[in-house]
Amino acid sequence: MAVTTMPSLDAHRLRADFPIFEQRFHGKPLAFLDSAASAQKPRAVLEAMTTFYETSYANVHRSVYQLAEMATEALESSRETVRGFLNAASPREVVFVRNATEGINLVAYAWGLSNLGPGDVVIATELEHHSNFVPWQYIARRTGASFRILPLDDGGELRLDALDGLAGDGRVKVVAVGVVSNALGTVNPVEQLAAWAHDRGAVVVADAAQAAPHRRVDVQALGCDFLAVSAHKMCGPSGVGALWGRAELLERMEPFLLGGHMIRSVGDEASSWAELPHKFEAGTAPMAEAVGFAAAVDYVQGVGLDAIERHEHELAAYALGRLAELPWVTTYGPPADRRAGIVSFDVDGVHPHDVAQVLDFEGVAIRAGHHCCQPLMRRLGVTATSRASFYLYTVPEEIDRLVTGLHKARKVFA
Ligand code: ALA
Repeated sequence: MAVTTMPSLDAHRLRADFPIFEQRFHGKPLAFLDSAASAQKPRAVLEAMTTFYETSYANVHRSVYQLAEMATEALESSRETVRGFLNAASPREVVFVRNATEGINLVAYAWGLSNLGPGDVVIATELEHHSNFVPWQYIARRTGASFRILPLDDGGELRLDALDGLAGDGRVKVVAVGVVSNALGTVNPVEQLAAWAHDRGAVVVADAAQAAPHRRVDVQALGCDFLAVSAHKMCGPSGVGALWGRAELLERMEPFLLGGHMIRSVGDEASSWAELPHKFEAGTAPMAEAVGFAAAVDYVQGVGLDAIERHEHELAAYALGRLAELPWVTTYGPPADRRAGIVSFDVDGVHPHDVAQVLDFEGVAIRAGHHCCQPLMRRLGVTATSRASFYLYTVPEEIDRLVTGLHKARKVFA
């Protein structure tokens, strides 16, 4: 084990914040290398949610009694925390949703159904997570728009040189792009893509579910028009995320989900809608989850997003170096300095599920499968990969345990 650069954060110390690491699996300490699927939770997040339930819980925005006002204040101050995290201009632009997938579906339905039609072009990337691919493919089909795929080069990076040819003489209306690929870790040039898209009058829908845990996500600097995140990948609870959208776009959109809270008035024949962001928040809000989301923002910002990003680059470099020692392992994706802490790979002659099974007995948790990226898997010429993904609590010794486990998998199966 040798990481050459200075550690940018103390992952050994941070691990003490996470109760999950007190548990053993198959009699071994947990090497959790599946943070891209969902990250573990620090005590600060769990305690923030428990405290909210114990001291401030009631339904929000509906009642005048003190407890309900405390709950409303907790929800709205969580929104303000998320606004600051994304550098959004106003909390009116921050909509609480169930997860990034729901946020993107909101845009696809509420913006796409009204703004797309025959002759329009929707572009999604070849490495897109299904969450920013399938909704656009579906809405394009429903509206008669053309759905096109921006290809990758052999290194797993977007071919921006293909954009003009792809657009042809169609009216490009939407460019859907992940900020960081959940399968390869590729950090995509969203700013460049946004500049190209805006030249053509298109909106850019950024999926930042995999980026928000790992690096600063500044919606104004990225230049996108909509951006979605999930709390669960960044130490927050499952069941909550945020959609950010430019106010002028959100204001012109019809609602997505309809029902309680999102109305201004309800007549027998027709209804009118509440102000932003409430127009898009039908039903009882994910209150405790939003409080946990804000606590997760505070936690990752306390550790420092720049430090997390550096830590992941170091771990990715270390993992790619260790895997390069194994001639029977193929890795996919760009060099470590252009990826988050995610490494997808294959072991010659061993199915990824068998690799993951053997590793599990060693206490090493990885994900095997298509990672919700079947178009990418086709591009790589595989049906599945093994994927190790790292976070602020990952230590290089866990990557050593991964490598030891791969030797065992090969011995058993190859
Ligand atoms: N999107 C999650 C993953 O990458 C579930 O595993």
